[in-house]
Amino acid sequence: MSRSAAFDLLPGSDKNDVPAGIVQLNRSISRALRRQRGDFQYYDEPAGDPSLRQQIALRAAKRGWQAEVDELCITSGCQQSLFLALMAVCQKGDVVAVEAPGFYGVLQLLEQLGLQVVEIPASAETGLDVGAFEQTLQRWDIKACVVSPSFATPTGASMPLHARAHLIELAERHDLAIIEDDIYGESGWLVVPDTLKAVDHSNRVIHCSSLSKVLSRDLRLGWISGGRWHDDIVRLKLTSQLASSRFIQRGVADFFADGGYAAYLRRYRQQLQRQRDQLLDLLGTWSVPIRATSPAGGLALWLELPEQVDTIKLYNRALDEGVVITPGELFSMSGKFSNCLRLSFAHPWTSARAEALMRLPGLMA
Ligand SMILES: Cc1ncc(COP(=O)(O)O)c(C=O)c1O
Repeated sequence: MSRSAAFDLLPGSDKNDVPAGIVQLNRSISRALRRQRGDFQYYDEPAGDPSLRQQIALRAAKRGWQAEVDELCITSGCQQSLFLALMAVCQKGDVVAVEAPGFYGVLQLLEQLGLQVVEIPASAETGLDVGAFEQTLQRWDIKACVVSPSFATPTGASMPLHARAHLIELAERHDLAIIEDDIYGESGWLVVPDTLKAVDHSNRVIHCSSLSKVLSRDLRLGWISGGRWHDDIVRLKLTSQLASSRFIQRGVADFFADGGYAAYLRRYRQQLQRQRDQLLDLLGTWSVPIRATSPAGGLALWLELPEQVDTIKLYNRALDEGVVITPGELFSMSGKFSNCLRLSFAHPWTSARAEALMRLPGLMA
């Protein structure tokens, strides 16, 4: 199975249901487009629109990081941010550490760039095992570590403060870049953890994020703050993309500035919490023994099924029934997690969704 397939599409999500916040966002973008005069004849500056960067800096300050506008560069999404970060820090053949289980999009990038991968175990609750990473650093000459400290996918784990501080200390001691994937950071409904950047005293953290998971995947709007590699990263963006669309950036900046985003996010977080609970309640009725994470942010939970269950086979059987799940093996290069699944709670709960989930245990035999 290819890592590029689309997953997490249980039936029952209604693409026509547009939340009020998204309607407001679309109006902001339309207004920005109407205000556009001669812009269409010029490229935006490579780092992106200053008004949007200012708004992103204001949100970063709420999460312990006093970001300067000049430290931020707008991208076409977190995947591009991760790509630029790896391009700036690594040469072909270098070794990069990733969490396991971890985001398959990073594994694809590493493969594409000809980089070697070392997988570091990650706990389903506390994320990257920094002690195990320290031991790995004795054996491998590692250039960078890609990590999601807040609500990592697939587990929803968040790293405690002492582990974050330890990671930064290792980065200083071993001359590493830490590439922080913070795409789920703002989704937390109990707490919104500080960014790793907040404790980055030596400018070794490259912060990558986007609006894809909390607002809209279709905006294709993300950002990067490259620490000591920032100038190289902006140059790489310039050579690969030239510029980002100005009216979309300005529309989003207005949506942030007039409080639309904050109001939308408050409602969305409550909705995610409700949907997580609905999913956990349903899983509680399954007759098969399972272990499920119960994250306080992110869009998915991680399910450990009995050892004999092969979730690739389950994926194929479920597909025949019109149910799409994400098998655990996709989250590692090593063939581990074959009895695990990522289940999304990103979509509103419907009876079709509940029925699809109820059918899964019957397909495990
Ligand atoms: C952890 C993580 N990082 C990055 C991305 C890529 O996000 P974007 O749509 O902003 O490129 C995703 C998307 O699935 C993701 O789950």
